[in-house]
Amino acid sequence: MLDAAAPAQDARQAVLRVALPAHVRVHITDDAIRLLTGLDRAARLGRTAQAEAMLRALQDAPLATADLSAEDQLLLHQLEARGMLASSWWVGDRRLLCFEPIGAMGSRIPATAQGKLRLSPMAMLRPTATGFALLAADGAARLLLDTPLPDGLLDALAQGCDLPTLVVLGLPMPVARDLLRWGIAARVLTPPDTEPQPGWEFHDMLFHHWSNVGFLDLPAAATYRHLATHPAPWAPAPRDPAALPLPPPLPLPPISLADAAAQRRSSRDPGRKALTPERLSGLLHHIAAHNGSISGTLPDGTTRSLPTRPVPSGGAAQAVDVHVLPRSIAGLAPRVHRYDGAHHALVPLGHAQPAVDDGMGWMTIALVARFWRAQWKYERIAYRLMMLEAGALIQQTCLVGNAYGLSVCPWGALDARQFAEASGLDPWREGLLGGLFVWGART
Ligand SMILES: Cc1cc2nc3c(=O)[nH]c(=O)nc-3n(C[C@H](O)[C@H](O)[C@H](O)COP(=O)(O)O)c2cc1C
Repeated sequence: MLDAAAPAQDARQAVLRVALPAHVRVHITDDAIRLLTGLDRAARLGRTAQAEAMLRALQDAPLATADLSAEDQLLLHQLEARGMLASSWWVGDRRLLCFEPIGAMGSRIPATAQGKLRLSPMAMLRPTATGFALLAADGAARLLLDTPLPDGLLDALAQGCDLPTLVVLGLPMPVARDLLRWGIAARVLTPPDTEPQPGWEFHDMLFHHWSNVGFLDLPAAATYRHLATHPAPWAPAPRDPAALPLPPPLPLPPISLADAAAQRRSSRDPGRKALTPERLSGLLHHIAAHNGSISGTLPDGTTRSLPTRPVPSGGAAQAVDVHVLPRSIAGLAPRVHRYDGAHHALVPLGHAQPAVDDGMGWMTIALVARFWRAQWKYERIAYRLMMLEAGALIQQTCLVGNAYGLSVCPWGALDARQFAEASGLDPWREGLLGGLFVWGART
């Protein structure tokens, strides 16, 4: 990777022995800089001061002109092994092509690329400030193509091409060779007959892989990336004047945790008894009523107090709200209500009578992500955290619902558009993740 003229397995030795060609530059990736400086990984690499000097050298000058001491070279190897160094081809001041691994997995570059390759079905093209980034849903590297691209390059990559094709399109031979090798490493180029992993759809793979921690060395989790520009989103909301108070929760029948776990089942049995407001009150209380608070100090030094609920929540963000759409509960209109866990009340939303309601049971419980509450603080894993929180809410609803004798069935495919229309909520700010249908009491 470091010496574009040398086979990959010799690259590390090559950089120790020889100066790099002037037109190949190596720099540390922006993501790596954030990781190293932000999370103090440089200290973990062993020598903070040298690491900082090295980072500066790499940022200020192409590697070919950097004056590398033996220690710097060792550090360089560590950075390279972790996939933190990008390589690029330049003609004068113009960059043609850049390869940015994102962690160790992305830095495995084959020595040569044989035969025809074409864009992977899992590849995507995104705009950058200087052209395009090619990356793959299952990849761990970016291939940056700066504009203007050679005429026909994207067509050739889409249809399948080999080294001679790229040279005919005008790419210098070593650049074309690295485009193919780097493309393989980034998993954006594959042999034409490569089948996608069975079962995986593009969007599932993209979400799963890019929101995982481990394979990609990108900043992740609680980086508080919007702290400087946006206020923390959890100022305690006052009670909504339109909120409807709920009756006191029906006491939960005594049941051991062992029995509750053993007896939990999804059921669509309509039951013989109504879903009463007292049972609804009890259900909501044990799922999502605030049951305490914790406080924490943010990186800007301010201290925040956050409510807690019976169900765990990443960073206590309580990003997943509980909404109910009653269909047959005495005293409640069949419209969407947001559960206010601070005041144990229901806040009516949207239309009084939703036009379309394909739901089942006497009530739908809708689990709604208030995305910003997690996105504000968590980088890359925000959506994953909300899905996990929704899972915890589902199990809690099943356990408590079963303990009340209610028929409860989780539902993964609730209609998000119907919900958005019925609730009046902007689906990009507060979007449906899934939910449950609830019927009456069986006993
Ligand atoms: C996240 C999730 C989504 C579900 N979505 C549906 C659904 O859309 N339709 C359905 O009939 N059942 C759905 N179920 C219920 C499962 O079919 C049920 O849990 C499964 O058959 C096992 O039965 P049990 O819950 O009684 O153990 C879902 C369950 C979960 C956990």
